[in-house]
Amino acid sequence: MQNLSRKTDDTRRSDATAALDAQAAVRLRGLYKTYTGNAQPAVKDLSLDVCDGEIVTLLGPSGCGKTTTLRMVAGLEVPDAGEIYFGTRTVALSSRRIFIPPEKRNVGMVFQSYAIWPHMTVAENVAFPLKSHKFPRREIKDRVRKALELVGMAGYEDRPGPLLSGGQQQRVAFARALVTEPQVLLLDEPFSNLDAKLREQMRIEVKLLQKRLKIAVLFVTHDQIEALSLSNRIALMNAGVVQQQGPPRLLYEQPANEFVRDFVGRTILFKGRVQSGNPAGQMAIALDGAPDCVVFGRTYNSNGVKSGGSVYIAIRPEDVEILPALSNQVPSGMIAGTARATLFVGERIEYQVEVDGQRDFVIYGERHSPVEEGSKVWLKLRPDGHSAWSSDWLSDGAQR
Ligand SMILES: Nc1ncnc2c1ncn2[C@@H]1O[C@H](COP(=O)(O)OP(=O)(O)OP(=O)(O)O)[C@@H](O)[C@H]1O
Ligand SMILES: [Mg+2]
Repeated sequence: MQNLSRKTDDTRRSDATAALDAQAAVRLRGLYKTYTGNAQPAVKDLSLDVCDGEIVTLLGPSGCGKTTTLRMVAGLEVPDAGEIYFGTRTVALSSRRIFIPPEKRNVGMVFQSYAIWPHMTVAENVAFPLKSHKFPRREIKDRVRKALELVGMAGYEDRPGPLLSGGQQQRVAFARALVTEPQVLLLDEPFSNLDAKLREQMRIEVKLLQKRLKIAVLFVTHDQIEALSLSNRIALMNAGVVQQQGPPRLLYEQPANEFVRDFVGRTILFKGRVQSGNPAGQMAIALDGAPDCVVFGRTYNSNGVKSGGSVYIAIRPEDVEILPALSNQVPSGMIAGTARATLFVGERIEYQVEVDGQRDFVIYGERHSPVEEGSKVWLKLRPDGHSAWSSDWLSDGAQR
């Protein structure tokens, strides 16, 4: 452990931060990393906590800095600036050139590639980290047995690595990561080589495993379903910068900016006008083309959203219901359109709908009550819980 008793201004500040969040198993503060030869930083001013028993996910598009962050936590990259603490232990503090090497950090890691050694049996693979840390032979045997039981691989001890399925190999990789009883488990896209069914199963297994072990897990993925379903908290990154962090529901329902709004889930952007607003930020918005269709939402990024002004209202697909039009009189709370194309995709039907006063949207419908292609439809919008935006700036995944 590092001696922080002789305090400089710098360390006093970091000690104060440390005391404030003493319960966090992992604390990252103001991390920066730029690779040699790159103009842009891979990670910029990243701060994050992971508590024991929590799964915190770094989510974001390819190249946004997720693996770089994980590697700094593991000690495989040296941060250019910033601080990393494991509980009260300082493992990296750039301003004082403190850097604890990976083998002294007690982290378990599982990567995208199975990374189990093909020339070793299952038991030899799992025993490897214990052997390199010179654990007594008896304890090794005992720990390997327990780790394999934990991941449901008891009985496979003598099986050579290559004679396992992908899912089994990944379970062995988990056992190997857990066998040293690490303080923190780092997972970098551990399911991305598995097929869709197995991914779902492994997701549930990791959740159950985590409930039993109660260790801190820092998880990396670019798959939003994985992030939403597994995480206690998500830090959504873009171009090295955390855009928003919080529980999955917060990011989904109260996105801090357009990038978060469009990356997490799908968004339909209706055009409208703010009729009234209250100081709490709640606004009544009438939709263009359907003045009787007034919905409520708030702005989580107030730039340019004012009473009387034109706005975009972002509505989640599950908050729009498609119904056959029963007359020319559109009921209040609904907007009229025409179902131009219908696509049966199994669990639902997707309609390309031309909407009065708006653009075309893809609307999801229930497969048991299909709407005929080419027919007039009404879109019934959930009355509240939406978000309002001044611009129609779109990132991937959204549609106007
Ligand atoms: N060893 C390296 N040398 C130079 N540049 C690197 C190196 N590793 C990563 N980078 C660059 O740093 C940025 C962040 O990379 P990183 O691997 O952290 O992204 P990522 O979010 O994990 O992406 P992916 O989802 O594709 O794995 C990228 O622009 C990448 O090209
Ligand atoms: Mg990566």
